[in-house]
Amino acid sequence: MKNINRRSFLEFLGLGTVSLLTTGFVPKTPPSSLHFGKLKSLSASSADRLELAKGLRYEMLVKWDDLISPTDRFGFNNDYLAFLPFDKNNPDDGLLWVNHEYVDPQFVSGFLEYTNTSKTKEQVEKEMYAVGGSVLRLQKVNDKWQVVFNDTFNRRITGMTEIPFNWPEPIAGAHSAIGTLGNCAGGVTPWGTILTCEENYDMFYGERDFKTGQRIAKDSDLGWYRYYDYPPEHYGWVVEVNLHTGAAQKHIALGRCAHECATVKELPDGRIVVYMGDDANNQCLYKFISSKPGSLSEGKLYVANVNFGQWISLDYDEHPTLQAKFENQTEVLIRLREASRFVGGSALDRPEDIEIDPITGNVLIALTNNLAKAEKNYLGSILKISETDGRHDSLTFTAETYLTGGEETGFACPDNLAFDAQGNLWFTSDMSGSAMNNEKFPAYLPFKNNSLFLVPRTGEKAGQVIRMANAPTDAEFTGPFFSPDGKTLFLSVQHPGEYSVLPNRQTSDWPDGRGAMPRPGVIAVYGI
Ligand code: FEO
Ligand code: CA
Ligand code: CA
Ligand code: CA
Repeated sequence: MKNINRRSFLEFLGLGTVSLLTTGFVPKTPPSSLHFGKLKSLSASSADRLELAKGLRYEMLVKWDDLISPTDRFGFNNDYLAFLPFDKNNPDDGLLWVNHEYVDPQFVSGFLEYTNTSKTKEQVEKEMYAVGGSVLRLQKVNDKWQVVFNDTFNRRITGMTEIPFNWPEPIAGAHSAIGTLGNCAGGVTPWGTILTCEENYDMFYGERDFKTGQRIAKDSDLGWYRYYDYPPEHYGWVVEVNLHTGAAQKHIALGRCAHECATVKELPDGRIVVYMGDDANNQCLYKFISSKPGSLSEGKLYVANVNFGQWISLDYDEHPTLQAKFENQTEVLIRLREASRFVGGSALDRPEDIEIDPITGNVLIALTNNLAKAEKNYLGSILKISETDGRHDSLTFTAETYLTGGEETGFACPDNLAFDAQGNLWFTSDMSGSAMNNEKFPAYLPFKNNSLFLVPRTGEKAGQVIRMANAPTDAEFTGPFFSPDGKTLFLSVQHPGEYSVLPNRQTSDWPDGRGAMPRPGVIAVYGI
């Protein structure tokens, strides 16, 4: 998760990849130096180390503040990753997209929350620059992946980049937004662009109180609006980026919420289905079905009612209730959470990453946890949705729990999911840094630090949850994405040392060690 509020543990907050099998780079011979039958699960750890199961090793690819081009630096809190080769006949050379979700001011701008000083405009601008995303040339040379620093493709998209809305009506009076932020998980389109999702947008510019028209600030408020008065309605969207040109657009038709991920499936006739979760307590699961091939702007948005197994349309013209409450379809999309309740969307336990099982076609949804309901769900689960007749444009489905967090299964709080080339499921955990290794949250104690897990599909350990990696102190693993040959897992290490209180208490010095400032970074895990 991401933890938006370090001061009072109010709520956990919290990425999607399109599986290899849907990106068209399936190795003919499935790789394997890992013999799942003999794999030994790591033990849980509370050490400030990145630990890997025997047989795996990692190398750093890039970390926060690295100079990626003569003019740009790598952003903070890397999350979603997607690697797109230039040419599928040469899958070892391409562009890596990296989301930069949010900032920890004490590291990024030097602003210390507990002092009674105000953040300066210069500090806000440093923070605005550190979010959004990075495009990096990535090549495999001598069996080793490396970022090509200073490559002409390398660029940043930041909280200051102007991005147009793909929508005929203005959004809060404008046809473009300044910046993208809260970039959590994402997805890959069949036409080779990426989707990056604006999740906890309200920590940057607050949220609109639609009754009074006023801005409401959140506890985790970064207060950027004190210097840049941008409307909250400009954030909370799914943003498409062309990695070759840097051109970006915000897709209004996919709705506005704390978008975790956007998992794309192309239908046989070329129409597009996008599955999306709104990662907050008691929020909903969505699906967009385009009416035209290759479109993310023309089509209908649906919300899931899990009890009835129905995708319910959020089309203004189909619902007198929506017509009574909202002015038009644009308002429905901007106020998506409210609209979903009116039509019967199911409240879920923080729907985060979503993947489509490449073999069965079932849709897996990580439900991280929910501490905001009467019967608290500390440990989370993974939900499995089977669309009727296996059709992703079906409007009915069945749902069941696929895996439940707990000591028996060995994990808590699932977040990012990824399938490898053999159809094994990998997932990461997202226990809040304020709850991990904290006696006040005994439910989390057995799991220690956040981890990476593997669920083999076949063999004697089929269906078991095997702990493959442990994250450094306060960190979570995010953005798991397999290289086209399936042999390397690209993985983000986000927010190491987030519960430091500088200057006196630093909880992690990963990755540089020797007391250095912790830095989020992206690693390549080899040996798979
Ligand atoms: Fe940014 Fe819901 O994780
Ligand atoms: Ca999360
Ligand atoms: Ca996440
Ligand atoms: Ca994923």
